Amino acid sequence: MANLEIDHLSHAYGPKKVLNDVNLRVEAGQVLALVGPSGCGKSTLLRAVLGTHPPTSGSVCVGGKPMLRPSRDVGIVYQHYSLFDFLTARQNVAFGLKLDQTSTPFRLFNYPAWRKLRAEHLEQADALLKKVGLYAARDQYPSQMSGGMRQRVAIAQALIMQPRVLLLDEPFGALDEATREELQLMLLRLYEENVRARAEHREPPYTVIIVTHELNEALFVADRVVGLSQYHADGANGATIVYDRPAPIFKPDEPKDLSKFVKQKEELIEAVFSERHLKDHRKYVTFWSEHEKTAVEGAGV
Ligand SMILES: Nc1ncnc2c1ncn2[C@@H]1O[C@H](COP(=O)(O)OP(=O)(O)OP(=O)(O)O)[C@@H](O)[C@H]1O
Ligand SMILES: [Mg+2]
Repeated sequence: MANLEIDHLSHAYGPKKVLNDVNLRVEAGQVLALVGPSGCGKSTLLRAVLGTHPPTSGSVCVGGKPMLRPSRDVGIVYQHYSLFDFLTARQNVAFGLKLDQTSTPFRLFNYPAWRKLRAEHLEQADALLKKVGLYAARDQYPSQMSGGMRQRVAIAQALIMQPRVLLLDEPFGALDEATREELQLMLLRLYEENVRARAEHREPPYTVIIVTHELNEALFVADRVVGLSQYHADGANGATIVYDRPAPIFKPDEPKDLSKFVKQKEELIEAVFSERHLKDHRKYVTFWSEHEKTAVEGAGV
């Protein structure tokens, strides 16, 4: 069972058809970059996965269950941070667990148990802040942090709920180039944990869909790139997946060799962003066949 299964999904806002027969299967541990022309429906697709805007037709299943409303199985981080100004970094990160696991009567009338649980939550928050490189700033308030630091806290806040799928909608769009790069490296470090887990036959912990306008970023942080576009034969009915291919894998401590993806970037521009309709895009939708080929080669068959 895949972590996320999108089946024949279409979405319209009133008479405006936005998404047209989108099909996507995402396994645990994949980091998928979703790219496409502005306004093609990327955020709409994420909202369907989040469960806030179920599709007009078709289905979305997370962990085998239909997503009809938001649940802790799917987390999201937007371009603009959404932290509580009156809470420190660690309190912000621990906040979701507090809501999820306790109630006001429990906190009031069972104080010793709440204190113990609270300590556990803060410990988990600290562990996540370490992971996103922010442990030293754990007692700072959002107003004392830079934009990049706030986005790290927002990501830790989403990860503490251990979502089956983490959605990132242009998460680094408001950051300067250097900060953006640091956050990209942070994602590569999470991906390394996935690789390690897989090697030890454990379930990889992070499954991520990242929407980005930056094709270099998409190819750098993701292991798979999906292109959504209205530029296809049936585009009048909305955007669909016109590109789905593996992306090169980078290690966080490796020099960033941009030449690795120059060709693929050109291919993406042609397949996803070029307005010449009626092209046969199926040749660019090869992720699973490539994936299986690599798996077979990897197994030495
Ligand atoms: N609530 C809504 N009501 C009506 N139309 C909407 C609504 N939300 C989005 N749209 C329209 O649906 C289309 C897709 O919007 P969406 O925000 O999903 O695109 P996007 O790919 O995320 O764009 P961007 O790259 O600019 O973020 C756009 O034409 C937009 O105007
Ligand atoms: Mg959007």
